[in-house]
Amino acid sequence: MSAIKFENVNFGYHNQNLIIEDLNLEIKRGKYTVLLGHNGSGKSTIAKLAIGLLECKKGSIFVDDILLNEENLNKIRSKVAIVFQNPDNQFIGATVRDDMAFGLENKCVDTNLMDGIIEEYASKVNMQKFLDAEPTNLSGGQKQRVAIAGVLAMQPDILILDEATSMLDPVGKKEIFEVIKDLKQKRSDMTILSITHNIDEALFADEIIILNNGKVVKVGNPSEILYDNELLTKNALEAPFIVQLEESLNKAGIKVKQTLDVKELVKQL
Ligand SMILES: Nc1ncnc2c1ncn2[C@@H]1O[C@H](COP(=O)(O)OP(=O)(O)O)[C@@H](O)[C@H]1O
Ligand SMILES: [Mg+2]
Repeated sequence: MSAIKFENVNFGYHNQNLIIEDLNLEIKRGKYTVLLGHNGSGKSTIAKLAIGLLECKKGSIFVDDILLNEENLNKIRSKVAIVFQNPDNQFIGATVRDDMAFGLENKCVDTNLMDGIIEEYASKVNMQKFLDAEPTNLSGGQKQRVAIAGVLAMQPDILILDEATSMLDPVGKKEIFEVIKDLKQKRSDMTILSITHNIDEALFADEIIILNNGKVVKVGNPSEILYDNELLTKNALEAPFIVQLEESLNKAGIKVKQTLDVKELVKQL
């Protein structure tokens, strides 16, 4: 079963050259998929096509097996939540609390439950002290935390994160991914599509899709993709630190097995 499916999709901006050409792509339902590609490879364009913010020139897009067209757009949008890379464009409310409430109102959540839900999700991303702040007064990273809390509170069937933690420092990124992983464990039917050029996010993926110049170059699991240096280099990507460490240890004669996990690696030493 696919959460998102692109069939022979073509797209170009304003009658310019095609950025996406004959793209076939499948995001599996209930999986955590990472779409990995360098800047300009077409990742955000794909996200916008998937939620109907852009319209493809040719081909078909299905979300939860429903054809994306004008008639089905609202039905599809009720299933999908997205966090974009630029958090400035996604606030509607005058305060963080209002903004989070807006999404919940759209989902027809009971008003009596709303405050509790808002506080729960703001706490998950460490923003509970900022509920009465104006979004414009927050830092880029704080805005991203709020945007993520807002979509997580809505409990979407399909969650798309488009470079959603790009403004957070490494500790902040890790914190957010722990929250998302935790949520995924509790709701195993949720589909998560994380779009990024940060290869470390791919370590936890069920499936990795490598994109280059609007084309899918390779699909596989982390152990198939992340040790393939030739593939990574060709696509302007670099192996994650843990892979580089394992390879350096092996080269230095300290034989370790591939683990993709720091704790497991340390056990071998
Ligand atoms: N609004 C736009 N108008 C024209 N070209 C665009 C627009 N947005 C993106 N592009 C071009 O489309 C290509 C893919 O961009 P994008 O999907 O944003 O890539 P990514 O998210 O992987 O960095 C790039 O060459 C970019 O310059
Ligand atoms: Mg992008």
